[in-house]
Amino acid sequence: MKYLVFDSKKEASKEAYKILKSLIDENSTLGLATGSTPTALYEEMIADHKAGNFSYKNVKSYNLDEYVGLKPEDEQSYAYFMKEHLFNAKPFAKSFLPNGMAEDADQECERYDKLLEEYHVGLQLLGIGRNGHIGFNEPGSSFDGKTHKVALTQSTINANSRFFDNEEDVPKYAYSMGIGTIMKSDTILLEAFGKNKAEAVKAMIEGPVTPEVPASVLQNHPDVVVIIDEEAASLLK
Ligand code: PGA
Repeated sequence: MKYLVFDSKKEASKEAYKILKSLIDENSTLGLATGSTPTALYEEMIADHKAGNFSYKNVKSYNLDEYVGLKPEDEQSYAYFMKEHLFNAKPFAKSFLPNGMAEDADQECERYDKLLEEYHVGLQLLGIGRNGHIGFNEPGSSFDGKTHKVALTQSTINANSRFFDNEEDVPKYAYSMGIGTIMKSDTILLEAFGKNKAEAVKAMIEGPVTPEVPASVLQNHPDVVVIIDEEAASLLK
């Protein structure tokens, strides 16, 4: 696992975008993440697309996860987040997310896994949770899991409550692409910023490979680039 440390999120995101561009072509399929981490990277993508330097119009994308029970037009849904931060400015050929409003969870997971078979994800973008989760694969998740419905941990609910008016409004469940699927992508680009990610980053890079730290599985992937700022790197040896 290779890691690169930068002074700021902005600088790191510029480099992340350069790496992203060097790894994809105009027909690639991307795995996308939500949350505060990738927003600056998405700004770089939009700027480059608007400048006419790179066309994303044939690119396909799959998102990692979605809250259960939120409609796509709900401002807290990840479908809405993706429109706001990327898709409105730069539509891809096709973009897929789990459907948080699906009536039957098992059927929804099967549907998303079928969709995931259509295009091979060349590059998967990831953030990391304070508890080491990737996507919404919380501690204890199987390393070969597929799409599943997850009961979010209190740590995740606390962390994500900053986006909601009240902690009680944070959904308790989500659909997440499984770790087995994430590990099938050719290259993984994981970003992490801020000191509240330092422990998770250390455990991911220097700790044992264990389901208790889902991101530690990335030590088993042949091509992972971790982009972090000084604060997120502060506990590394
Ligand atoms: P964040 O979330 O980007 O909002 O910090 C990342 C994650 O929980 O995976």
